[in-house]
Amino acid sequence: MRVHVADHPLITHKLTVLRDVNTPSPTFRALAEELVTLLAYEATRNVTVVPVTVQTPVAETKGVAIAEPRPLVVPILRAGLGMLEGMVKLVPSAEVGFLGMVRNEETLEPSTYAERLPDDLSDRQCFVLDPMLATGGSLSAAIDFLFRRGAQDVTAICLLGAPEGVAAIEKATEGKNVTLVLGALDERLNEKGYIVPGLGDAGDRLYGTV
Ligand code: URA
Repeated sequence: MRVHVADHPLITHKLTVLRDVNTPSPTFRALAEELVTLLAYEATRNVTVVPVTVQTPVAETKGVAIAEPRPLVVPILRAGLGMLEGMVKLVPSAEVGFLGMVRNEETLEPSTYAERLPDDLSDRQCFVLDPMLATGGSLSAAIDFLFRRGAQDVTAICLLGAPEGVAAIEKATEGKNVTLVLGALDERLNEKGYIVPGLGDAGDRLYGTV
């Protein structure tokens, strides 16, 4: 697994405002979107392209176009929805699928409660959006789901990650073609499973549920 932690003052600045408990939901949403666009730039570094020829007003030249099948963007419901616009802004030709994951309170295992994805993901590059990589349970289940459908490689974009979550994804996806792009790697998880220092519950902060 490749792990890329953003190292850019603009990203750190925006994350600092996002972390602030006094930042209201509308600002939080706008900043989350901007952050994803910046992280998507790094996350799409290895997107597959094909050579094309284009006629400029001056001459014919060679360039590239994003290859078929189109990349698939998969926000994990609900908080991943707050990252979707920022991603498709940068890759408007991407197809979008949805995955809803919930933890079964008896088995403590994540299970899929909603799924809207193409049946066959052969040769697809997939980009999973999940703002908070905490224990890694739902993200590794989502990644596993995509590989079982035939995905070629999976990149997960998270605003914040905890070391425990990174280790869990690493273990769960051993030998698979997985990239993790994080806005920042925080210190740890607390006893309630929140990322420390983190930003609280990303879904609540995005959608104003307190
Ligand atoms: N999910 C969140 O929204 N926040 C955390 O800190 C951990 C998981």
